[in-house]
Amino acid sequence: MLQPFLKTGVALARQEQILKAIQADPLGSYVFSGPAGVGKTMLFRELQVLARAACPKNFAIYAKTATQYQGEMTRSARGERVPGLFRTSALSDSAHGIKWAVFLDDIDKVSGSEFIHRELLDLFDAVCTQRTPSTQLVLTTNMSKAEFKKFFGDAIERRVTAQCLWVSMEREG
Ligand SMILES: Nc1ncnc2c1ncn2[C@@H]1O[C@H](COP(=O)(O)OP(=O)(O)O)[C@@H](O)[C@H]1O
Ligand SMILES: [Mg+2]
Repeated sequence: MLQPFLKTGVALARQEQILKAIQADPLGSYVFSGPAGVGKTMLFRELQVLARAACPKNFAIYAKTATQYQGEMTRSARGERVPGLFRTSALSDSAHGIKWAVFLDDIDKVSGSEFIHRELLDLFDAVCTQRTPSTQLVLTTNMSKAEFKKFFGDAIERRVTAQCLWVSMEREG
């Protein structure tokens, strides 16, 4: 079990609050937002462990860095065969009782290209569609919510903030 870590500079009480929140709702959707080194990737990994434990059966996770995701989508668009490529059509598997989770670390490290923004809009559109069981979406970003909106645009920001709890991780002082 992950413990608060003094060196991240985030107040211990805040770290405890965040850890309690993800333990209480390990299948929830989150954006961990804050500067480099505050512990976003640690939480991203911890949440995968908690989610698998909470949903031991019929649970499918796609967990990559956003840079890896962009690479896979780009190679696929060029016609290359990409093993393990994530297809939004897979989410309709939830009709067969499979719960899906999409975890993308460092989402703002994708390029500003129209191609990847369109792919992400498709992805978030599919992820945020109401279904049972619902799809889990977990992102990390160095951007604030305002920066995120500016970079990705209203349509993506609206979907992500409707689906996910936005967890700001600020350093003290
Ligand atoms: N709760 C924690 N327990 C132990 N080490 C941590 C914890 N949170 C962060 N760290 C360490 O602090 C450093 C930065 O954490 P990281 O998750 O990579 O930050 P970020 O993704 O926000 O840049 C890493 O070396 C990580 O191992
Ligand atoms: Mg990180």
